[in-house]
Amino acid sequence: MPDSDAVAGRGVNTLEPFWMPFTANRQFKSAPRIVVAAQGMHYITDDGRRILDGSAGMWCVNAGHGRERIIAAVREQVGQLDYAPPFQWGHPGAFALASRLSAMLPGDLDHVFFANSGSEAVDTALKIALAYHRQRGEAHRVRLIGRERGYHGAGFGGTSVGGISNNRKQFGTLLGGVDHLRHTHDPARSAFSRGQPESGAERADQLEDIVALHDASTIAAVIVEPVSGSTGVLVPPRGYLERLRQICDRHGILLIFDEVITGFGRLGANFAADHFGIVPDMVVMAKGMTNATVPASAVAVRKEIYDTFMQGPSNTIELFHGYTYSAHPLACAAGLATLDIFAEESLTERARALAPVWEDALHSLRSLDHVVDIRNLGLMGAVEVAPREGAPGARAFDIFLECFELGLMLRQTGDVLALSPPLVVTEEQIGSIVDMLGTAIENAD
Ligand SMILES: Cc1ncc(COP(=O)(O)O)c(C=O)c1O
Repeated sequence: MPDSDAVAGRGVNTLEPFWMPFTANRQFKSAPRIVVAAQGMHYITDDGRRILDGSAGMWCVNAGHGRERIIAAVREQVGQLDYAPPFQWGHPGAFALASRLSAMLPGDLDHVFFANSGSEAVDTALKIALAYHRQRGEAHRVRLIGRERGYHGAGFGGTSVGGISNNRKQFGTLLGGVDHLRHTHDPARSAFSRGQPESGAERADQLEDIVALHDASTIAAVIVEPVSGSTGVLVPPRGYLERLRQICDRHGILLIFDEVITGFGRLGANFAADHFGIVPDMVVMAKGMTNATVPASAVAVRKEIYDTFMQGPSNTIELFHGYTYSAHPLACAAGLATLDIFAEESLTERARALAPVWEDALHSLRSLDHVVDIRNLGLMGAVEVAPREGAPGARAFDIFLECFELGLMLRQTGDVLALSPPLVVTEEQIGSIVDMLGTAIENAD
């Protein structure tokens, strides 16, 4: 084949070469679900069907699809300044976005380090935690503590502190010096809780056990999702996160909130940290930050962490870390335009106002066959179905496929159907989401 034909992709235009992430490739390619356009609350498939977006893409298109303001900002930016090196150079958008984010973050979380994906931001936060302790003369604090059923992306750091067995077992021993808290899921006591479960705060005390085992002097940081998303929306029991904060304070351990899903209005507050009234030492964010139009992520750190690095001669690099595309101009433009939409349309307040409607709608599915739990907080939700004998996940996958046929996009993880509609969802659309999901559950054997 002539080189130009190969470059043009002539003769290779099949579904085969794309090795799809976190996907059953052979199954998908035998019956693909292809979307070709999106607007507002809907995707359009390649055969022209409208699919209601019950999951904001992958928990990320919080302001709805095809937002003109973001498109215009990105278009203008790419014409003005397509790229600027972030090491030893700057551009206005990076400083503007960091300032806007620091103003909306709680407490003294006032410095922002940019990356491109949630995974990169998680690894950035973990590296900052190690470097911070070293900088303070506590280089012995090297252990990182995650939590079972946590998801912190696909990098080595995030996979190591993550607690989803399927995501870990293919990849050997991962990082050393990592331990995990028990997860907070307790269906025996908390099934069908509306919002935060009443019982279970004591599970945070397991951190004291981990401290007792390893000694606090060896532990750098604890990282948790305030609400675990990818594992099926596990809402923390009342008082749990507060206790984690107290125990971390008691032992000089940094607390990192991974808010890749919970940030940007998802819980009816700017961040879960605001919702729960807790100031962590770092907040990891991504997804909704640019409404997913351009990949971007960030780690916000408390003033004391930043200040700890700003020592020594001013001409030395304080943190040997960063990415070619940290604070990419297109990402910053998209991020600023996204925040403008949030401010003008009061999207966070909107999510807060809709949360009770969302809760009632989801819990109306309680009496359906197969349903064993329903969980919700803000505009996140999950319906868990009983597994089929000997085939975990199979029933939920069938429901997921049926939803697609009916015209609904949601996420399936194990036996959980997870939902997180764009914050522009209407009450009527909430009704449609729940109707379609209910029908799909009823049709499942
Ligand atoms: C809580 C959390 N952290 C990190 C990530 C990883 O983000 P990304 O896929 O952008 O690397 C995700 C992705 O779903 C997430 O939900």
